[in-house]
Amino acid sequence: MYGIIGKSPSMQKLYRMIQRVASTSSTVLIQGESGTGKELIARAIHELSPRRDHPLIPVNCGAIPEDLLESELFGHVRGAFTGAAHTRTGRFELANNGTLFLDEIGDMSPKLQVKMLRVLQEKVVEPVGAVKTTKVDVRVIAATHKNLEKEVAENRFREDLFYRLNVVPIHVPPLRERGNDVLLLIDHFLNQFADHQEKKTVSISQEILDLFMAYRWPGNVRELENLIERLTVLSDGEVHKEDLPTKILDGGGDGVLAGGASVTVPEFSNIIGNLGEGVDFNHEVDSFENQLILSALESTGWNKNKAAQLLNLNRTTLVEKIKKKGLERTEE
Ligand SMILES: Nc1ncnc2c1ncn2[C@@H]1O[C@H](COP(=O)(O)OP(=O)(O)OP(=O)(O)O)[C@@H](O)[C@H]1O
Ligand SMILES: [Mg+2]
Repeated sequence: MYGIIGKSPSMQKLYRMIQRVASTSSTVLIQGESGTGKELIARAIHELSPRRDHPLIPVNCGAIPEDLLESELFGHVRGAFTGAAHTRTGRFELANNGTLFLDEIGDMSPKLQVKMLRVLQEKVVEPVGAVKTTKVDVRVIAATHKNLEKEVAENRFREDLFYRLNVVPIHVPPLRERGNDVLLLIDHFLNQFADHQEKKTVSISQEILDLFMAYRWPGNVRELENLIERLTVLSDGEVHKEDLPTKILDGGGDGVLAGGASVTVPEFSNIIGNLGEGVDFNHEVDSFENQLILSALESTGWNKNKAAQLLNLNRTTLVEKIKKKGLERTEE
């Protein structure tokens, strides 16, 4: 879908969400770790929406200093401040009838948060130095890699603005929760970079693919994309283990479950290795459960009886978990 690669259940859920919100003009808040594809998703929503023939105007709220950002967003009139030699149309107005993509909204200053709230509520913009307001019809899609609920709880983000933005929340799953999508993305980026450099195919051994599957990808799809680019550049037709970063080579590790069962769980050592940055316990446990259940289902062709046997669970317990977690079979 619009250049978004991935067939995992979590991505399919995301596609359905994109389809549903695209037809509306509701404000959307896209949250997800860095490099998960938030910008791609914002574009997909715009392209699928009735606004597609009007502009999609992006603004990176984190990259521009406060005063500049204010006139970027709302415009200014001639003489509004020193250096304002000409009237300037703000991006809100440029996005009229289209979509405004407010990237890194979590970095917006408190002063601009107030102004933003007003625009969203009243649907009018007030250029800096202007005496009149201008009516605008703009669909806002905001994105952030920060946890905005936490920013609100710690008084760094206005609660009222959060609720205004969070009309339709979209959570983009981290790459490590997308199962075999890692392989699809590797294939996609290999083709992309091979074409670029007019090289033929670059092959990656199963051993290296296993390491990629076990790695946590803290930088998500962007990290994978950059790595594949590097490996393609270095490659003589094949990817060699010594070209991999050590953090990926270190991915493996064995774990022991209660009851003495020994299992190879590369994921564990990675998570524990990263404890320094802190992890969300419930989230990690949930994600590990998802992976266990999905791999049991996949290896039994989604036969729930057999999968339950593999996991030593009652069938009903398994079925309940599948339902509660919203796990679904990936359509080919
Ligand atoms: N599912 C996907 N399929 C193909 N390419 C993807 C996918 N997700 C992300 N990418 C690519 O990964 C890179 C990062 O994506 P994007 O810029 O949308 O991430 P982001 O969530 O906005 O990151 P940040 O929070 O750091 O701004 C881009 O080059 C994008 O094209
Ligand atoms: Mg981004």
